Amino acid sequence: MVRASEPLFGPAQPRISTAPNVTRNRPKSLVTSIPFARDCIVLVRRETSQDIAAVRLIQAAAFRKPEPETLTEPIEVWLLDELRACTGWLPQYSLVVEQDNTVIAHGVCTRGQVGGIRALGLGPIGVQPDFQHQGAGSALMHALVGGADASGELFIALLGNPAYYSRFGFVASTDHGIESPDPGWGPFFQVRTLSAYQPTMTGQFSYAEPFQRL
Ligand SMILES: CC(C)(COP(=O)(O)OP(=O)(O)OC[C@H]1O[C@@H](n2cnc3c(N)ncnc32)[C@H](O)[C@@H]1OP(=O)(O)O)[C@@H](O)C(=O)NCCC(=O)NCCS
Repeated sequence: MVRASEPLFGPAQPRISTAPNVTRNRPKSLVTSIPFARDCIVLVRRETSQDIAAVRLIQAAAFRKPEPETLTEPIEVWLLDELRACTGWLPQYSLVVEQDNTVIAHGVCTRGQVGGIRALGLGPIGVQPDFQHQGAGSALMHALVGGADASGELFIALLGNPAYYSRFGFVASTDHGIESPDPGWGPFFQVRTLSAYQPTMTGQFSYAEPFQRL
């Protein structure tokens, strides 16, 4: 028998704290549920021309290989430069995470297509190594997915580890009848369908042109 004083579901609610709320007067960041340190101001925003050099350094650091390849610039930096110069570049989907006025992460979607129907290809996405595993990547992912959905995009495709991207709703592309550009990618090629997606959108996905020169 449950006594009236016991909670039916889960632990009792915590008592309302009377401690001062140090975050009360801070501007709210766009993403409030991400586990950044509570005393930081974190913004996800569109990249500006002033961010480009910092973004390049962040992607280089994020994708830098362990020794002995440390001195070689990662291919993702070349890819980003080429994407910026191609017709598939979509500035509204090149986002940065800024923590206390410093850019610490960058992610981008560019124009892809499946069977002549527009879609988005996500990548590269990278977080400055010192700031990884603190929520910046998740903040970027939520902002990119939410922004694309709000703008009426159909779906986003990416190549990556399902252990990470499944938490943002990505599933193997073949679950939706979408083939990867390279059949060898298997379940690592994933899609996140958005509100405007129609199940008839099937076929082989193509990234923006620079991806095809990798
Ligand atoms: C991958 C990356 C963007 C994630 O951003 P992040 O800010 O470090 O990640 P978050 O703090 O949002 O999320 C942390 C979680 O992601 C997991 N994670 C991070 N990178 C992962 C990866 N490559 N594969 C699987 N899981 C990963 C962590 O284990 C952690 O899991 P948990 O929440 O269950 O503990 C970032 O680590 C990064 O820049 N890595 C190097 C470049 C890279 O690999 N880019 C992606 C290529 S597809």
